[in-house]
Amino acid sequence: MQEFDLVVIGGGPGGYVCAIRAAQLGLKTACVESRGTLGGTCLNVGCIPSKSLLNLSENFNKAKKDFNQQGIEFDGVKLNIAKMMSNKNKSIQVLTKGVEFLFKKNKVTYIKGKGVLFSKNDIVVYENNKKTSYKAKNIVIATGSEVASIPGIEINEKNIISSTGALSLNKVPNKLAVIGGGYIGLEMGSVWSRLGAEVTVIEYLDYITPGMDREISNEFKKILIKQGIKFRLGSKVNYVKNEKEKVLINFTEIKNSKEETLEFDKTLVSVGRKPYTEGLNLAKVGVKKDNKGRIEVNGKLQTSVDNIYAIGDVIKGPMLAHKAEEEGIAVAEILAGQAGHVNYDVIPGVIYTSPEVATVGKTEEQLKKENRAYKVGKFPFLANSRAKVNNETDGFVKILADDQTDRVLGVHIIGPHCGDMIAEMALAMEFGASSEDIARTCHAHPTHTEAIKEAALAVDKRPIHF
Ligand code: NAI
Repeated sequence: MQEFDLVVIGGGPGGYVCAIRAAQLGLKTACVESRGTLGGTCLNVGCIPSKSLLNLSENFNKAKKDFNQQGIEFDGVKLNIAKMMSNKNKSIQVLTKGVEFLFKKNKVTYIKGKGVLFSKNDIVVYENNKKTSYKAKNIVIATGSEVASIPGIEINEKNIISSTGALSLNKVPNKLAVIGGGYIGLEMGSVWSRLGAEVTVIEYLDYITPGMDREISNEFKKILIKQGIKFRLGSKVNYVKNEKEKVLINFTEIKNSKEETLEFDKTLVSVGRKPYTEGLNLAKVGVKKDNKGRIEVNGKLQTSVDNIYAIGDVIKGPMLAHKAEEEGIAVAEILAGQAGHVNYDVIPGVIYTSPEVATVGKTEEQLKKENRAYKVGKFPFLANSRAKVNNETDGFVKILADDQTDRVLGVHIIGPHCGDMIAEMALAMEFGASSEDIARTCHAHPTHTEAIKEAALAVDKRPIHF
């Protein structure tokens, strides 16, 4: 029987990164993955394919709507959806193979099949009808999450679809309903809206993107409405009826108890995801879960069984690939005797719509709840010269800093390229920067990043260009 220092169950961004780091640190490491390709939900049916479609649909939209007005004239822009999907699929193939290559390069053993815990040191892997046993000194559970639904809705990936189905439609629906105005709903809603669908987002709360700084969330909604997306907020979906070619959605507007039924071609269900731990045999080996089905871990990401660790979407915290990656690295380093650590106060979040939305640290609502005195500095992209010449003036930068120490507590941006710009703010926060530090850092001109510098100046009420 093969023996390893570490067996990681799950080859998504958390699992594969953990395996590579552990191997770099000299641990004999294996990674078990049942999907047939590495990269998990993120690479196969999540972050990466959605970014491909977001980029392609954005180009299509610009070619159709903006370019002619900007002096780049051409006729007959046509959508070839089969080609678009094939482009997306090819990129995924290259990237999943790339992870396999990284495993080989770092001498991580890639075990194909479904891993099941047999004891705290024994893992059985099932592949087709074959069953193989492995011994492991340590185990990391990185099995990710699966789509959540709501009662009365059965996802069939035909006309009632999850994000997976929304990434591979072969025709643009005339009318698409999106249930849930969170990350997935707004990214995939944007894709299909740009490609020509009439998109209606039905959201339970009376605002979108819960957890996000409300001022940013409100601005985001306004911009999406301007782009043609419709919203039915404060609406509770009662049931979705599958009529083969059509779907009927019955919902109640909460504030006045008014019930309504609308007809759509397709419905995307994007009401969140839930930890995926099915069939792992956790209870038998004594790995405890909390009341939300997440694996319980301590500060060292150790479960209730001392040599079994858990990372990523199966534990608490935001379900984000980069959070899982940081946890994977931390566990590998802890196992190698180093001081692995994740700073949960500085995990950026990005929604890759157009414009993008990017945030890191505390929101204004959180600071109010904590009774913390803070200062706010804001700067609109309308006053940023680069955004102006590029006709990308929607949005603003908002910096929240401690009233006494001036330390940056949170940065929230809606605007062009802010998904990349937020890295500067995460770095600043990791170094404990004050808004004055950012204001005194020379930012290249003309760049969108000057909006960050100006927002930092605005914390002290001295912006130059506004
Ligand atoms: P989400 O948690 O972002 O949003 C779900 C939305 O559905 C919320 O606004 C919630 O209020 C609403 N909702 C819940 N029950 C409802 C109901 N019965 N009727 C109407 N609305 C209801 O979840 P989402 O968008 O499904 O994404 C799942 C996970 O994937 C998230 O944790 C997200 O962080 C991650 N993700 C991250 C992306 C990124 O980093 N760009 C992209 C896509 C997903």
